Amino acid sequence: MSDIKKKPVILDGDPGHDDAIALVLAAAFKDQLDIKAITAVGGNQTLAKVTLNYRRIATFLGLKDVPIAAGREQPMLADLVVAPNYHGESGLDGPKLPDPEIPLSELSAVELMAKVLRESDEKVIIVATGPQTNVASLLLAHPELKEKIECISIMGGGLLKGNWTSAAEFNIIVDPESADIEFRSGVPVIMAGLDVTEKAYVLPEEWDKLRGLNPVAKMVAEWCDFFYIHLKELGWEGATLHDPCSVMVLVHPEIFTIKDYYVQIDCKGEYTRGATVPDYMGLLGQKPNCRCMMGVDRELFVKHLFEACESFGKGE
Ligand code: BDR
Ligand code: CA
Repeated sequence: MSDIKKKPVILDGDPGHDDAIALVLAAAFKDQLDIKAITAVGGNQTLAKVTLNYRRIATFLGLKDVPIAAGREQPMLADLVVAPNYHGESGLDGPKLPDPEIPLSELSAVELMAKVLRESDEKVIIVATGPQTNVASLLLAHPELKEKIECISIMGGGLLKGNWTSAAEFNIIVDPESADIEFRSGVPVIMAGLDVTEKAYVLPEEWDKLRGLNPVAKMVAEWCDFFYIHLKELGWEGATLHDPCSVMVLVHPEIFTIKDYYVQIDCKGEYTRGATVPDYMGLLGQKPNCRCMMGVDRELFVKHLFEACESFGKGE
């Protein structure tokens, strides 16, 4: 019995090991979040690959009633850049997943998102953990549905901080024009940028403890194993769980520190294209358009992640 109303959510992403863990979290938070749709976007790998990955993960998690749609293959203006260095050739290399038993929706990602928004009695949260191409396409195609969006919880950017270039984070630099459309849309954005996601890491000795719990926890541990290969080469102490932050904040906002800023996307910079630039001093006289997640209690983050994994039961 629960008198807390579940929040309807759409998950949009490009799995991707951390996108996959974000979906595990959303599925685990079933008393708080109601997953209405899953939509894929070209990013970590091509659209065909990441769409297949979502269908495999959803099959593994038993999310049979959640429609899955393919979205935009290419960024709004730029050519797609993929990230096999982090996620492998499949976009989700590492442990084997079942063949997909969930059919692909005949609707495009934008059509499916629009349908969910239209049919929902309450406002819907969009979680977007890849390039923002599908979301921007939705906002352009259906401005009348903006009022049905509670907020867009994104993984992307970093306040004057990058990981793909010194100035820009991967999800934003792949498609800055889409991020720009989104940040100017008037729909509230919650931004899990590198400021917070690089603090939300799990150590190898921590995720080791997940292996024996249940098949989902074991899968999460093995995704961390793969994701950490490249991160370790870069000198990271643990696996930085970027995308799960965008789901975690919806259920456990109390573990994050959040600051509100007016944030602009640099679409033109010769050296800084894709940068997320905060108006720290309020010089532009604009109202904040973005709740920027700046810090996290890492131990509580890991605790909630473990509890979420445990919720899938005990044993094989
Ligand atoms: C982001 O880039 C992708 O590789 C991850 O899935 C995450 O969304 C981190 O910069
Ligand atoms: Ca991602």
